[in-house]
Amino acid sequence: MTDYVTVARVADVAPGTATTVVVDRREIALFNAGGTFYALENTCPHQGGPLAEGWIEGRTVTCPWHAWCFDLASGKMTLGDYAEVETFEVRIVDDEVQVSRTPRPA
Ligand code: FES
Repeated sequence: MTDYVTVARVADVAPGTATTVVVDRREIALFNAGGTFYALENTCPHQGGPLAEGWIEGRTVTCPWHAWCFDLASGKMTLGDYAEVETFEVRIVDDEVQVSRTPRPA
C-alpha cells in the first residue's frame, strides 16, 4: 500500500507554478500544471539543475540550466530517450496535496 505525506495545500501552488518540498530528506519538485499536480525528483539528471525552477508548458517542464525537457507524468525526457527522473504519486485530500513517500516503479 502506498504511504502518502501531506506536502502543501492546494492553494499554495498556483496553476503554472511549482515549489520544492522535502519528503524523507528527498527533494521533490511539486508542479501544478493547469490544475493537475505532479511530483518529480527535483534534481535534473544532466548536471543537477533544480527542476522546480524550470519552465512549465502544458505537461512538460524545461530545466532552467540547460533546457532538457521532461514529461511531468512519466518523468521521461521529451526530446530523447536517455534520461528520466523519478516520479511520485500525488493525491488531493480535501485541500491537502499529498505525495507518496516512494517513487513509482521504473
Ligand atoms: S542541469 Fe538540467 S539540463 Fe543541464
